[in-house]
Amino acid sequence: MDKSLRKPVIAGNWKMNNTPEQTKALIEQMKPLVAGADCEVILCTPYIDLYAAMEAAEGSNIKIGAENCHWAEKGAFTGEVSAQMLKAAGVPYVIIGHSERRQYFGETDETVRDRVRAALNAGIKVILCVGEVLGERELGITDEIVRKQTKVALSGVSEAELANIIIAYEPVWAIGTGLTATPEQANEVCSVIRSLIAELYSKDASDHFVIQYGGSMNDGNAAELLAQYDVDGGLIGGASLVAEKFAKIVEAASK
Ligand code: PGA
Repeated sequence: MDKSLRKPVIAGNWKMNNTPEQTKALIEQMKPLVAGADCEVILCTPYIDLYAAMEAAEGSNIKIGAENCHWAEKGAFTGEVSAQMLKAAGVPYVIIGHSERRQYFGETDETVRDRVRAALNAGIKVILCVGEVLGERELGITDEIVRKQTKVALSGVSEAELANIIIAYEPVWAIGTGLTATPEQANEVCSVIRSLIAELYSKDASDHFVIQYGGSMNDGNAAELLAQYDVDGGLIGGASLVAEKFAKIVEAASK
């Protein structure tokens, strides 16, 4: 088993933060700080900031992603944006199934599955989020929940398409709370996901599959989390809004 089969991926999730102007300024600040990264660097921004972000990131090693996409190509879905639209705009990545979408906007395992399908069909790479809420952890059903979320989201995804998917394990109780999973807890669930990939696809697919941890990862705890065998990167909320903090996480992933 060789962790070096997988290149770490550090992705920022800006959530509902930053105007286009602020986006430009923050990316300009980040560019020199992450230029030497030995990992993939992605920033996912609100739709309205995508053009400003791509323009600011042009020619650098920072790739840009959206934070969601709809499952239909087009139609009467007020307020939504399709994967085809993102593709046409030149956006290479999209987050799907973030717990805030599941919690506040009625996202289900099935709508997550459909959005994953739409993104892959459009040729956009997916950061698929899974994770248990605190009550589920306390009941001891974390593995079961994460396995189910993953299985449903990947139903219909071929082994070849797996190369275009990253999974972010994000325990909901650790998101934006300052409570981080211990490195052992993070690794344990990432390893459950990796075993499921082996079960559903192949050992080879699971060895190459990138699994991130997310949930209050910051410049202070990133190195320890990223050193875990099954943790191949991070999905970063709060700390991705501060250039120096984000750059330190990128640096930790590059070691
Ligand atoms: P956080 O968010 O780093 O602010 O906890 C992570 C996420 O929601 O992806």
